[in-house]
Amino acid sequence: MSLNVIILAAGKGSRMQSNIPKVLHHVGGQSMLKHSLDVANELKADKIIVVYGHGGDQVKASINNDNIRWVEQAEQLGTGHAVQQAIPELCKNPQSDTLVLYADVPLVQRSTLQKLLADLQDSELVVLSTMLDQPTGYGRIVRKNDQTLAKIVEEKDADHAIKAIKEVNTGIICANTLNLIKWLEQLDNQNAQQEYYLTDCIELAGKENKTVRAVVCQESSEVMGVNSRVQLAQIEKIYQSRQRTRLMNAGVTCKNPETLYIEGHITVGKDITIEPNVQLKGNVRIADNVTIKMNSIIIDADLQAGVTVNSNSHIENAVIGKHCEIGPYARIRPDTTLADNVKIGNFVEIKKATISAGSKVNHLSYIGDAEIGKNTNIGAGTISCNYDGANKHKTVIGDNVFVGSDTQLVAPVKISDGATIGAGSTITKDVPADKLTLSRSKQITIKNWLRPTKK
Ligand code: UD1
Ligand code: CA
Repeated sequence: MSLNVIILAAGKGSRMQSNIPKVLHHVGGQSMLKHSLDVANELKADKIIVVYGHGGDQVKASINNDNIRWVEQAEQLGTGHAVQQAIPELCKNPQSDTLVLYADVPLVQRSTLQKLLADLQDSELVVLSTMLDQPTGYGRIVRKNDQTLAKIVEEKDADHAIKAIKEVNTGIICANTLNLIKWLEQLDNQNAQQEYYLTDCIELAGKENKTVRAVVCQESSEVMGVNSRVQLAQIEKIYQSRQRTRLMNAGVTCKNPETLYIEGHITVGKDITIEPNVQLKGNVRIADNVTIKMNSIIIDADLQAGVTVNSNSHIENAVIGKHCEIGPYARIRPDTTLADNVKIGNFVEIKKATISAGSKVNHLSYIGDAEIGKNTNIGAGTISCNYDGANKHKTVIGDNVFVGSDTQLVAPVKISDGATIGAGSTITKDVPADKLTLSRSKQITIKNWLRPTKK
């Protein structure tokens, strides 16, 4: 069956105390709206309709996807009114099912929604419910004797007996599209809040003797909504815990997992160890037997098998080959590719560089816009002088080169295979292969020199 997903994103979210529309606040490094869109895509929705209201331009600008149908709800007159705004779009794809999601409920999972949609096979409308010890504020689920759904009663319309019900409406529903359109058109606002309630569709379905079911979401944290920044932080906590659990179940040992922070898409191999206070962001691939030590930040990187990232290292947009050793206190900047068995030591910055297998840059160096061959050793304090104040220039270093400590390589410059460079050199011209090259002023000692004394 073809599927429409409607995402309600019109709420203002006054309790956020923000100039940013609520649904653009982030969980796990992306907007709550994006989370809803992701799950809609995971469900292979044929059509995604976003109902926006407050901050519409900002909301639209945040998403770069031509396949979304944007529908405005200028005035917020209730959840039913919000979904009514999507009717013209629904009419374009009527032979379908329609699922309604809330953009401020970002943690709902595909598997849960699939259960909901599966129940549509033998019913006309399915509601996602959950059990809450403190149900105050939510619409209550009223079931018939046969356990199908009779109606949903909003808190403000509920009497004492109804208020005692702990099964609540999460707001997420799905229905056959043609029926949904028909029920939406019959909604009125004769209730305590004078709102058009989406939930009234249930009684309308009942009047036609249509079967309505409620599927209970066992993990109520999954359907928690965000109305305030405190709730946003709670959702973030749940999200983080979910990501860590996934990594641990896949073969990652997390030491003090509560301190691991994840944003983005992380794929992992087996026997990985992650020490406390690590951040993983963007697209990160971590292969078998990788160790990431304390306080390191890894962004959009590929860490191949056996890599060790020592403490306090930053790696961004880089490929780190097998068995490389990085840090402690190393910074690998974008467009860096390290082949296997490369060592980058403490206080070394690497930017836009390719370093071939077995080479070492162990101490206090800056290597930028460079190409380094195999088994080359870059001595402590070597600087590639890549920038002339206007343009960047390249440093090319061959295989088996030995660069002595405290050398400046003034780019553009090429150092051929097997060259040795004496410590303290300023290299401004290309260096031939297999020879010792150095630039160094002669050392002198001044005789009869007296150290000044205090007057
Ligand atoms: C609604 C449900 C209630 C359920 C609760 C779960 C109805 C009538 N009630 O309550 O049974 O327990 O959600 O949180 O459906 N929205 C719009 N436009 C509107 C109104 C709401 O886009 O005119 C969006 C909000 O931004 C939010 C969602 O719909 O994402 C729910 O709105 P909210 O006011 O929080 O919920 P209630 O209507 O109180
Ligand atoms: Ca409301």
